[in-house]
Amino acid sequence: MWMEGKVAGLGGGRTGRWPDWEVAGWDHIPGAQQHHSHIPEGHRHPTIGNGKSTINVLSVGGGAGEMDLQILSKIRARYPEATINNEVIEPSADQISKYKERVAQASNLENIKFTWHKETAYEYESRVNAEKKTKKWDFIHMIQMLYYVRDIPATIRYFHSLLESQAKLLIILVSGKSGWETLWKKYGSSFPLEDLCSYVSSADLPRMLDSAGLKYQLYELPSRMDITSCFIEGDKDGELLLDFLTETLEFAKTAPPELKHQLMEDLRKPGCSENKDGKVFFNNNLGVIVIDP
Ligand SMILES: C[S@@+](CC[C@H](N)C(=O)[O-])C[C@H]1O[C@@H](n2cnc3c(N)ncnc32)[C@H](O)[C@@H]1O
Repeated sequence: MWMEGKVAGLGGGRTGRWPDWEVAGWDHIPGAQQHHSHIPEGHRHPTIGNGKSTINVLSVGGGAGEMDLQILSKIRARYPEATINNEVIEPSADQISKYKERVAQASNLENIKFTWHKETAYEYESRVNAEKKTKKWDFIHMIQMLYYVRDIPATIRYFHSLLESQAKLLIILVSGKSGWETLWKKYGSSFPLEDLCSYVSSADLPRMLDSAGLKYQLYELPSRMDITSCFIEGDKDGELLLDFLTETLEFAKTAPPELKHQLMEDLRKPGCSENKDGKVFFNNNLGVIVIDP
């Protein structure tokens, strides 16, 4: 299974439930600082769906649906008349059942049809190919999931090939400018990586997308996480946060003292965090990549 049980209390590394963190809202994205663009001014934010009566949305690694429902409410607000067909690729049965509970409790989901596929992105591709009935999509998103696929460029190319002519593929990963990137560069090889999970960030994507000849825009989405409790000896939340940051169960108790000492020093430094008003804020910025058909 994907990282289940690996990090006690947090639901597993970058999967499952995240600790409390702040992120600028979706509305922030179009105004965010744009780093790459291969699209002429004026053609940048065409709408999806092109006035169709049904909008087909594919969520790859949708987890418990937290982000998915936010996305759907944005699409609903933009296309009040349309029927939305939302399909989810998600290998974890536990996440799917949480997603279903969330849907059952939510209001404002009229005219949205949900379908869950309990499979990985690769299994979806194999099944759809075997069934020989390729379906096209108006919006596909992969939020915080590309860490878990074996071949990232092939996965992106495949899902890109499923886009309708007026559609978007959205990818979100931790930013190349985040504290994660700093941490992984220095300590990636010291952290246990028994599960299939790679230290990829948004900084790795332009190279892959350029070589696939894809058109895209890359945005920086500011986000930060208060990790002050990591520096309070014996603090339970701090220990769990440290497990989350290092993807190691009981890091504080089991890591070699020198590794722990070095890491704690680095966690406070500007490469990872900002120190403000006596608190330490870890840079949890996200990279948002919007790919055109
Ligand atoms: C960090 S969670 C992100 C969930 C959700 N997209 C969000 O942003 O809240 C990653 C999700 O990807 C799923 N996942 C892991 N490997 C996958 C794969 N090969 N194909 C599709 N989904 C996968 C996990 O089960 C997990 O639910």
